[in-house]
Amino acid sequence: MNKTIKSLSSRNLNRTRFVVFSFVATIVVFFILFAIYSCAGTVCFQSQLVKHSFTSHDLDRVRTLNLEGNDVLVHLHIQKTGGSRFGRHLSFNLDVDPPCKCRDAKHCTCFTRKNLIWLFNHESVGSICGLHADWTDLQNCVDPWFQRIDSGVRNYRRYHYITMLRDPVERFFSEWQHVHRGATWAGARLHCNGREATLEEVPFCFQGEDWAGVSFPEFVGCKSNLAFNRMTRMLSNLSKVNCYNRTGLDEGFVFRTMVESAKENLLDFAFFGILEEQAKSQFLFEHTLGIRFIKSLDQREDTHVAKLNMTKEMVDLVRRTNQQDIELYRFARELFHQRVVDMERRLGYTVEEYFDVYRDAQNELGTQDEQHGEEEEEEEEEEDDSGMLHGTGDERKLTHYPGEGGK
Ligand SMILES: *[C@@H]1O[C@H](CO)[C@@H](O)[C@H](O)[C@H]1NC(C)=O
Ligand SMILES: *[C@@H]1O[C@H](CO)[C@@H](O)[C@H](O)[C@H]1NC(C)=O
Ligand SMILES: *[C@@H]1O[C@H](CO)[C@@H](O)[C@H](O)[C@H]1NC(C)=O
Repeated sequence: MNKTIKSLSSRNLNRTRFVVFSFVATIVVFFILFAIYSCAGTVCFQSQLVKHSFTSHDLDRVRTLNLEGNDVLVHLHIQKTGGSRFGRHLSFNLDVDPPCKCRDAKHCTCFTRKNLIWLFNHESVGSICGLHADWTDLQNCVDPWFQRIDSGVRNYRRYHYITMLRDPVERFFSEWQHVHRGATWAGARLHCNGREATLEEVPFCFQGEDWAGVSFPEFVGCKSNLAFNRMTRMLSNLSKVNCYNRTGLDEGFVFRTMVESAKENLLDFAFFGILEEQAKSQFLFEHTLGIRFIKSLDQREDTHVAKLNMTKEMVDLVRRTNQQDIELYRFARELFHQRVVDMERRLGYTVEEYFDVYRDAQNELGTQDEQHGEEEEEEEEEEDDSGMLHGTGDERKLTHYPGEGGK
């Protein structure tokens, strides 16, 4: 009798275990399927279940800046990543004292009380290293410039690189549209290993003034078009792949070296934001650098690209030709999200709670977030493509950058 009960109850227990196990397994499978199917269109690849593991050093970025000391922000502006708007936020919308003094939307001087320049970007210093200078160029250009400017005042500086990234497929279409409207970035240059790329290394994609009206097949048909994998190129150490002359180098080697180098450099940035994640980008920026924006960054949905009719063939082609950027962006998004989660954990509140509760409470002067000023009404991501030089009188006339500049 006892034995029967025991065996009965043990059978029941087994059955209960089985039911619980099945239930959990079903939920897990459902969750995985949901994760796979919840992605759509160009954002799909971002949701793939690839996990990078980052060290706490990679995630913990807190660097409270002392702008009156040796800290300098260097803004690396990649075309069509929302960098112009971000740049304007840096010079117009940061809660620093004294604020930058701006002559107009694109010409500011950003000095500390001790007359030190604390912001290096196009708005603040002009085209010192060319328009849209890349990592390779900035590494060799920023410090020598500061050494001259700061001579006798500051012996060294700590550079904090910051940038914005964007979905590479959308970024590519956006660049096509921008070039289609007549942009050339004529003031940019391709500086690497002490010289600029030659026309043989990076031939022009077009003849004449610009490439206005370029069709999509033409745009993707030009092999030397620097729109391909632009984010990877602009973030990697190009000295590692012999700059722009890849003769004799294995294609696979170039691909891997550039992607790995871009990831490595990005990890070293003080901050990078993601165009599609304005609120989280702001959250990370403010907590990482200890400087706040006066008015919160807003998310834009009405981009030029959103209005484009892209066929599946076009999207597939862009994906195939931008594999480096796709890999880099996948890595960057994951790093970004883990940094957000890590920051939330350390602060004890979420991004939403920060904006809903804590940020306003911390801001004793009262928030101006709700005032959406008229100056925000301008065209999305309007770029300075004039290549115009301005600023301190220290810059020299830049030569043309082949591939994007027209004569
Ligand atoms: C690239 O480098 C190779 C040798 O390293 C040289 O023979 C070739 O002329 C260079 N190509 C260009 C386009 O400069
Ligand atoms: C870039 O790579 C080259 C070649 O590996 C290396 O010598 C150089 O130090 C690197 N540049 C920077 C700024 O790290
Ligand atoms: C996109 O397609 C829609 C419907 O087919 C059309 O009305 C619209 O004008 C197209 N837009 C562009 C920018 O071609």
